[in-house]
Amino acid sequence: MHDFHYVDNRLFCEDVSVAQLAKKFSTPLYVYSRRTVLDHYLKIKRAFSALKPLICFSVKSNSNLSILKTLVAHGAGLDIVSGGELRRALRVKADPKKIVYASVGKTRPEIEEAIRCGILFFNIESLQELGVISEVATRLKKEARVCIRINPDIEAYTHRYITTGTLESKFGVDFQTARIIFLNQENFKCVRILGLHMHIGSQITQSGPFLSALKKVCGFIDELKKMGIGLQWLNIGGGLGIIYRQEQPQTADEYARAVLPILKKTGLKIILEPGRFIVGNAGILVTQVLYNKDTRARRFVIVDAGMNDLVRPSLYDAYHEICPLDNRRMLSSGSMKLSDVVGPICESGDFLAKDRLLPLFDNGDLLAVMGAGAYGFSMASNYNSRRRPAEVLVKGNRYYLVRSREDFDDLTRLERIVG
Ligand code: LLP
Repeated sequence: MHDFHYVDNRLFCEDVSVAQLAKKFSTPLYVYSRRTVLDHYLKIKRAFSALKPLICFSVKSNSNLSILKTLVAHGAGLDIVSGGELRRALRVKADPKKIVYASVGKTRPEIEEAIRCGILFFNIESLQELGVISEVATRLKKEARVCIRINPDIEAYTHRYITTGTLESKFGVDFQTARIIFLNQENFKCVRILGLHMHIGSQITQSGPFLSALKKVCGFIDELKKMGIGLQWLNIGGGLGIIYRQEQPQTADEYARAVLPILKKTGLKIILEPGRFIVGNAGILVTQVLYNKDTRARRFVIVDAGMNDLVRPSLYDAYHEICPLDNRRMLSSGSMKLSDVVGPICESGDFLAKDRLLPLFDNGDLLAVMGAGAYGFSMASNYNSRRRPAEVLVKGNRYYLVRSREDFDDLTRLERIVG
């Protein structure tokens, strides 16, 4: 599943000792396996090869330029959600014809820049947004290509914060609004509507919700066909779940097997936008034990990474495996005790793991927080005036510092003192 494994009880990323990286670059530290990234990308590409889809990696899941470059160099397109992500895409020389742009809140300058770049299309999320895109395109005397993001009103059975395809969520437009848009196409000057988009949520472990949503969307495509409205593209979004604990998510092959028949029937060109599936298990966060603290209720393992470095446990109660870099600790299970692994941030919600049976660690011991490649660094912040961690990319027996740790000047660089 991924390229992090023990060799003689020492954790390795591909052929590099993780402890060696921690020693060299200090902690907290993100470490990515390039091989795992590519392996997962190719898994999904192969599973869908019958349709030759465009796979647009979801930049928000991990926007490190070297990760983007790795994928772009292997033919991937990119799914972006902001002007900042567009800049990143251009920095790695992504082909604009392989960039799709979602987001409920695209601003006029963002829209203008994306039109000028010639991106493949916008996934529009409201009637008003379509009006603004038309206005900007008309002013620029250019054509803007769009897909309509459908909100199919399907429960995805995942965390409510990452459910995006029910009518309670702010994303996409319902079928009736989409109908109105298609019937009034000519009112939107300089806009060409090329297809439909859906993305019903993230960390979805079963094919069922995808299939239900697709059935609804494909029914709508048929309806449009009967009205004489032909489309070119169907973008089925991302959302594939991965293993953090003991989930048994559908594999890429199982997912493809479930949805390929219905996708084939549409005759449309297909886009997928996976993020987590490609990078989730390709990254870890390495942290160091600072202190141990026993209370009558529990043991706290206080480490040097906090919710500012990896917010998923605090925000979604997400489970991430904790693995010592030296596994002999785990094997000497005599001193196992129910423990919380907590960070230095001044919030009780600052934890990386709760209620785990862990051995007594020494101060200075190194731990890996597993499955931190997606929505890890990309959601990191400077809360508590902490410098965001460094990122290292491992490639076989070589490694590269692909983002330096921020320094203290970075924290105040944009400020001006007025007293
Ligand atoms: N396409 C669109 C339009 C999206 O909004 C997203 C993710 C994706 C694709 C990629 O989804 P994926 O394949 O990674 O599931 N921060 C949360 C996840 C937020 C997902 C946001 N949208 C987390 O840490 O679990």
